[in-house]
Amino acid sequence: MKPIHDYVLLVEEAARYVREQFGAIPETAVILGTGLSGLASVADEESVLPYTDIPGFPELTVDSHQGTLIKGRLGGSQVLMLNGRAHLYEGYDAKEVTIPVRVLGSLGVKNLIISNACGAMNPAFSAGDIVMIEDHINLMGVNPLEGPNHLAWGPRFPDMSDPYDKELRALAYDAAMTEGIALSNGVYVSVVGPNLETRAEYRMLSRMGADVVGMSTVPEVLVANHMGMRVLAFSVVTDECDPDNLAPISIEDVLAAAARASDPLQRLIERVIARF
Ligand code: HPA
Repeated sequence: MKPIHDYVLLVEEAARYVREQFGAIPETAVILGTGLSGLASVADEESVLPYTDIPGFPELTVDSHQGTLIKGRLGGSQVLMLNGRAHLYEGYDAKEVTIPVRVLGSLGVKNLIISNACGAMNPAFSAGDIVMIEDHINLMGVNPLEGPNHLAWGPRFPDMSDPYDKELRALAYDAAMTEGIALSNGVYVSVVGPNLETRAEYRMLSRMGADVVGMSTVPEVLVANHMGMRVLAFSVVTDECDPDNLAPISIEDVLAAAARASDPLQRLIERVIARF
């Protein structure tokens, strides 16, 4: 077990570096997942830091994830954007993949908007749909809150009765109505990956109560809740996972479906931020 002290010092050093580079820190941050980095291009960028310059930030190994921290304007407000994330399947542990969220929390960020790509077991969902996550199941077998607890960050046994803020979800639903964007609700189950699931696994995930499945987000949500941040998360359906009619899924299909939802998701997030 690594001492928590070293980890806390690393996060504090990273937070200090970002504050030195960026100055005032906005209250809202957005994590841009697979195929959704387009949001970074619609924002008015003010400053950009490559993850490789920030102490402790993970080096990303997946082509579809860029690895830059951006300060800019979106929906009329200043925001931070994490353009790309690290995943457990890259070989990082749960504490390492959540360093960026720990840093956001240490910098005083209050609202965290998360996006990701997912497969949908719920037959009502189609590729390209946007699903607002209402709850989750952690099936990764690891937890970023394992080990000694740093009390200044949050409690030993954080409550998870409402990890996706009810008020923010209502606001997002309203924003979707205003923009004429179809928005579904669902339970997200997280797995380590990197393989997609077998038919038997999709069947099991569906029966255990999940609507969609993905390889990220839950560690970030646990850490954000631990630090008292309000979380809102959107999943873009990139593949339909009917165990009785499962077609092979390629990363190209996943990226194409994510790209299709990119425009409405950008509008939705901008509209939500404008209402904060
Ligand atoms: N399973 C797990 N993660 C995913 C999937 C999937 O089908 N699609 C996109 N991310």
